[in-house]
Parts: sequence; structure tokens; C-alpha cells
Amino acid sequence: MNPTRRTILGASAAGLVAAALAACSSGAEGGGAGSGDPVTIGFVAVGPEGAWRQANEQNIQDTFTEDAGYTLKYAPATNLDQKSQIDAFTSFIDEGVDLILLSATEGSGWEESLGRAQEAEIPVILIDRGIEPDDTELYATRLAPDNVAVSTSVAEWAKSTFPDGAKYFVLEGPAGVSVVNERNEGWAQAMEGESAFTDLGSQTANWSTEEAKSVFETVLKSNGNDVQLVFAQNDEMGLGAAQAVQEAGLTPGEDVKIATIDGTQAALEALSEGTLSFVAEYNPLFGEQALEAVGTVLEGGEVEPYIQIESTTFDSPEAADEALPDRKY
Ligand code: AHR
Repeated sequence: MNPTRRTILGASAAGLVAAALAACSSGAEGGGAGSGDPVTIGFVAVGPEGAWRQANEQNIQDTFTEDAGYTLKYAPATNLDQKSQIDAFTSFIDEGVDLILLSATEGSGWEESLGRAQEAEIPVILIDRGIEPDDTELYATRLAPDNVAVSTSVAEWAKSTFPDGAKYFVLEGPAGVSVVNERNEGWAQAMEGESAFTDLGSQTANWSTEEAKSVFETVLKSNGNDVQLVFAQNDEMGLGAAQAVQEAGLTPGEDVKIATIDGTQAALEALSEGTLSFVAEYNPLFGEQALEAVGTVLEGGEVEPYIQIESTTFDSPEAADEALPDRKY
């Protein structure tokens, strides 16, 4: 993960629309030769995956509107399949869109497509997901909260919650996804040398509540229920682990503490009830920052290779209760 070089704070809406309209009036590349036609954006998206993804992709679509001077062409993956994304990406290049937004289902395998976009002089901006290896020459910028820092915040909470250590298990997202590797990196770095903690292992549950419940049922059985901590790399998997804990006759939040990443409404409700014990937000609502970055790129301006999206953490039922009334996802 690139060190954070700049954080775009919440820019004013007026400034954003001005930047977008300037892009249109200047006849930004591909948006018609100075005709003021809307700027066409191809959004190679993940598609249905869970509450976080729904919030993130809806926010992008709600931001890049005709009123803002854009035509957004939304292309969700077919069953999370990378080939369907590469096909959509190629179609957008052949169509000559002005810019491509990419949320990659797989971190690797993008060099050829990104190289073709470069040859066609179509800028690419990464939304949330990175590429591996991370060649910042192949894209204009990536917008995402800092996954390493987010998972580090979970580890720091765990160390403060279990001063004498604990036996823990990690429920990972799908193999090969950039944010999973980054979250593993943050957790591993923060837990290195913590000899009072016992790593019982990790396994993917593919962001799924049902799969996480099944995986963690097996973990509890094979460890005689002697597990005190779960790091679930998204909310849905944490809620699945909680179901497994309850069905084992144990109490989540007491016998087993579960920490998750995302900060969806369902997770905060579970935190409020004590079913989850810690929720690290991975803020999906950065359409405004993406609009600003797109406007700058289309005007030929400079943006940093990584734009960090601010996120927070929730460590108690009281924190959840305070946030829930205004929760936007
Ligand atoms: O890339 C972000 C991750 O993808 C979220 O943490 C998870 O819920 C989503 O499916």
C-alpha cells in the first residue's frame, strides 16, 4: 500500500460540480470535441457482494450523474468473475470512454488491460480495490481507506482487550483480493511478537455470513470451543461467526469476542446488542472524492497515486448507539 501522500477532505459540492462542468466545457478527452457532451465514464464494478459493496457502488452511481456532467456506464462483474470485468474494461476502451473506474475482483492479471487503456490514452482510477503488483504507472490514482491501518486498528483493540492474550481465528475475504492481502498485512504486523496470543489459523469465508458460520462451527468444534477472539475481515463474516458461537451454546461478546471491518448498519446494530465487540469502519461513501479526482485527471491535473478515505472505529455499544441514527449505509 502506498504511503498516504494526501487525504482529500470533504470538498464542497459547488467546487466539485465546477470541476466537472469545467471538464465538460473544456471538451475533456473523448467527451466530444469541445461539444460539451457529458463526459462518459466506464465503471468496471464488482456487483452484488454484500452491504458494503452495495453502498459503495450506489454512491458512485448517485454521484456521477447527468446533472454533474457525466454519463456513467455501470458494468458489474458476472458472479465476481474477473474475465467478465476484463471484457467490460476492453469494451469501454473500444468504445472510447473518457475515463474508466475499476473495482477489481482480483488483484492480479490487470497489466495487459491497463496497458491497453494507456495506449488509448484513457485514464483509469481504482475504486477501493488495488492491483498486484501495485504499479502506480498503470493508473491515475486509487481511492480507498487504508486497509493496513484499518486492520491494524482491530489488532490494537484486540491487544488492549486481551492484555493476557487470547486464542484467535481469522475469517478472511476471498484469496487474491488486494484488500484481503492488505488486511492480513496490517494484522500480522501488529500481532508480530505477541506471544500471549495463539493463532489458531485463518480461512476464507468469501465475505459470506453463511460460509463464515459453517467455517467457524468447525473451528469451535476442533478447538473444544476454546477460542476467545475472531477477526472477521468484513461484517457479514463476523455476523456468521456470531451465529456459530450462539449455536455452540456460547455467548458472543462474552465467551468469544468478534471484531469486524466495514461498519454497516447491521454490524453497528450487532455491536449495540453486544453480539459484535469491535467494528472498524471501511468507509464506502467516497463518491465526492472520486468526482473531484476524475475532474482533476480529465483536466490534465495531477493527483497523488493514492487518495486515502477517512474511516473511524466503533468499540462499544454506546459508540454504536451514537452512530446508528445517522448511519448512511
Ligand atoms: O473491498 C472491500 C471489501 O469488499 C469489504 O470489506 C467487503 O465487505 C466487500 O465485499
